[in-house]
Amino acid sequence: MRVITTIQDMQTEILKLKSQSKSIGFVPTMGFLHEGHLTLLKRAREDNEIVVLSIFVNPLQFGPTEDFSTYPRDFERDQSLAECEGVDYLFYPSAKEMYPHSSSVSVIVQERTDVLCGKSRPGHFNGVATVLTKLFNIVLPTRAYFGKKDAQQVAVVEGLITDFNFPIELIPVDIVREEDGLAKSSRNVNLLPDERRQAVVLFKSLTTAKETIEGGERNPRAIKNVISNLIGSESNGEIDYVEIYSYPQLKALDYLEGTCILAIAVKFSKVRLIDNIILEVSHEFGGVK
Ligand code: PAJ
Repeated sequence: MRVITTIQDMQTEILKLKSQSKSIGFVPTMGFLHEGHLTLLKRAREDNEIVVLSIFVNPLQFGPTEDFSTYPRDFERDQSLAECEGVDYLFYPSAKEMYPHSSSVSVIVQERTDVLCGKSRPGHFNGVATVLTKLFNIVLPTRAYFGKKDAQQVAVVEGLITDFNFPIELIPVDIVREEDGLAKSSRNVNLLPDERRQAVVLFKSLTTAKETIEGGERNPRAIKNVISNLIGSESNGEIDYVEIYSYPQLKALDYLEGTCILAIAVKFSKVRLIDNIILEVSHEFGGVK
């Protein structure tokens, strides 16, 4: 595995690989790798001749009161995990390398951001879309891998790839969870021990909501109440949002039908956690996949 820190070196390598018609699988991350990231790398390894991993904690996507400075980092550990997954190139630029001067152009996401994390984190998805535009132009991937843990990010990236005509296949990958159901996240290490125990309620509330839908409930408000009540009774976390939308359009629903996302965000003392499930809901009683 080669570690590359400059854009110029990365582009030189990529152009060589492209001239040999190699397929390139790309996994963009902010590091502090866990099983979720490693699953994306495994998929990329299976599908492509070359695997590129990027690690870059992107300042543009953090708000002024968010956790940029406390975002966990451990490059040495990430490097050996990447090596074990058979990564060919680890792109690890500094902020100065990615943003040498104030930007003259940035990407503004117009749709799918007025809800969920886009609403709670103004400007977040513009930062994500801007850095991904740069990374896609540097890495020129054949396929790019994104986790459904950040389902709104997948919806935004789908729009970015389509609208800006990137010749990239987007591969969404299922959420990887801890044994007790908590979605794996780099941020989980910033939970206090008691909060870690309480955090199980996120997935539990989504599972209970799914069962309620399987029992025939189709009213979004009733289902949101089931989720909020459970989170409120089993944790001290502050609910940021509990929402149900069509997916990937992220439009409000009066009645659950078709592909729907149940998405939640809960704030603990130092961490905000998100989780979701995406369901196929049929009109008939019980029909849920
Ligand atoms: P990061 O939070 O490091 O996540 C990198 C990728 O790993 C994302 O596609 C995310 O959805 C996926 N991932 C994280 N936890 C997962 C889990 N439990 N199961 C499956 N996949 C999981 O998302 C970002 O970084 C950044 O916004 C980035 C795209 C790199 C742009 O800066």
